[in-house]
Amino acid sequence: MTITPDFRFRRLRRSPVLRQIVREHHLRPEDLIMPIFVQEGIAEPVDIASMPGVQRFPESQLGGELRRLWQLGLRAAILFGVSDNKDSCGSDTWSDDGLMARCIRTAKAAVPDMLIISDNCFCEYTDHGHCGVVVEDDVDNDQTLTNLQAQVVTAARAGVDMIAPSGMMDGMIAAIREALDEDGYHHIPVMSYSTKFASAFYGPFRDAVDSNFKGSRNTYQMDPANGREALAESMQDEGEGADILMVKPGLAYLDVIANIRQHSNQPLAVYHVSGEYAMIKAAANAGVIDEKAVVLETMLAFKRAGCDLILTYYAEDLLKWLAEG
Ligand code: PBG
Repeated sequence: MTITPDFRFRRLRRSPVLRQIVREHHLRPEDLIMPIFVQEGIAEPVDIASMPGVQRFPESQLGGELRRLWQLGLRAAILFGVSDNKDSCGSDTWSDDGLMARCIRTAKAAVPDMLIISDNCFCEYTDHGHCGVVVEDDVDNDQTLTNLQAQVVTAARAGVDMIAPSGMMDGMIAAIREALDEDGYHHIPVMSYSTKFASAFYGPFRDAVDSNFKGSRNTYQMDPANGREALAESMQDEGEGADILMVKPGLAYLDVIANIRQHSNQPLAVYHVSGEYAMIKAAANAGVIDEKAVVLETMLAFKRAGCDLILTYYAEDLLKWLAEG
């Protein structure tokens, strides 16, 4: 007996053009934000063993690298400094001659039209590797906020286009907004790492920034088990004035992305983190997956879940793959 379905979804899948015109989500070059690592005291780019294809750049090559990426179509970069001048509170970050300020000035001079974002944290500038001031074995929230205010005003003075605090301190967006506005930087937007989990997927990043950090960030980053709190964290930051919200990491937290998307009208970003990158690379290098197809599918999953922007180490490859069509 022949069975005849009432409705046939396959009608709209019959040709490439049909599939194309009913496609719900798209990845565009301007959706991508590329993380760039700049290390003090090196003369040539250094490969990062745990992240094949990603390098740390000397300051002298930052401008050239950004110009090259601009030519490929990159429109936004987020800068991470790997400092030689570490101390207990990360004071290099609020020095006008510090690594962060110098990198921002170099980047803006090289590619004035590119959106230059600074990752605003302390972990790459403290000798203990925590994301703030440590008091009695824990990061002191409110002292860290005071330092963060000094840091973001320094970044703004250096010409940064957008501030991106990643330390998961309570009240960080309100503190940053107040400091920026007070110094006349009303126009500088803040992209908050608003829902950031204490994740094992950051493993390779620790290698990338040479962090000798051995402890845990469980007292400030979120427990991966918590979905309601994940929403509350981002809504709190929106209430404090965050212009863009973010979920980090990505693939293990698509439910969190979708939930925030339903509750906020602000642009939403996702950070496809080092461990996510390294896992795809390892599988691709082992010859067991099609790297391009898997990366594009992953990016579309972020868009489908509700993200507008994607921070990813695959940004350069994606620009090439998008251009190929
Ligand atoms: C530190 C910071 C981390 C990342 C970005 N900023 C690591 C951490 O919180 O331990 C991770 C980035 C990545 O894994 O790609 N505030």
